[in-house]
Amino acid sequence: MASAVLAVSTLSKVGAEVAWLPFAWALVLLAAAILYLHATRRGKFQVWEELLDELGLQGHERLLDLGCGRGAVLLAAAQHLPQGRAVGVDLWRSADQSGNAPNTTLHNAQAEGVCNRVDLHTGDLRHLPFDGGEFDVVLSSLAIHNIKDAEERRQAVAEAVRVLRPGGRLVLADIGRSTALYERALGALPVTEVSIRPVGWRMWWGGPWLRTRVVTATRATR
Ligand SMILES: C[S@@+](CC[C@H](N)C(=O)[O-])C[C@H]1O[C@@H](n2cnc3c(N)ncnc32)[C@H](O)[C@@H]1O
Repeated sequence: MASAVLAVSTLSKVGAEVAWLPFAWALVLLAAAILYLHATRRGKFQVWEELLDELGLQGHERLLDLGCGRGAVLLAAAQHLPQGRAVGVDLWRSADQSGNAPNTTLHNAQAEGVCNRVDLHTGDLRHLPFDGGEFDVVLSSLAIHNIKDAEERRQAVAEAVRVLRPGGRLVLADIGRSTALYERALGALPVTEVSIRPVGWRMWWGGPWLRTRVVTATRATR
């Protein structure tokens, strides 16, 4: 008798737990969807505004955005450069961002009132179509990880450093383990003050398992 009571009570507990599982999953999925939406609609913009503020731009710099896409970061940077240039380079891959095309970015630049200080180039991050030392600032948001091969991602980081002037600043924000690779790649390049840090929950892409980190460095002067 006692064992029958125990069996019934165990079964009902298991039943209750099993009944809760779909709710728990639904909650996790809902939280992930909210975090993702927040990151893409607001978080990314807020974090980049802070990263741009940290650069202490004077307003006359020449800045390059690697993989600028539709211009979320490029156009925010252009707002800080009333006498400067904000240059975007991209291959305009729609697999990486929907509606990705130079005309879309130019249209967005017009809407933001920064069209007169934005230039767009079609080019590959692994072979940048710019001379060495052309830029005061090089930045990139969520772009380099799209290059599948690790050696080619290293090459893109080397290209970013090549086009920086001595003393110029590098800011690479990206997801996953890519950023550790960028930090290691920078160890073999002429840069100083290399740092890596997470940017916090505002750029979690669904949860802490897919978070953004930022790698910063300064091009060595000699
Ligand atoms: C996820 S989107 C990010 C766009 C933008 N930086 C942002 O934060 O909204 C990645 C961008 O990188 C570009 N991209 C990917 N691989 C590239 C490569 N090898 N050379 C140039 N651009 C590339 C894609 O075309 C796309 O515009």
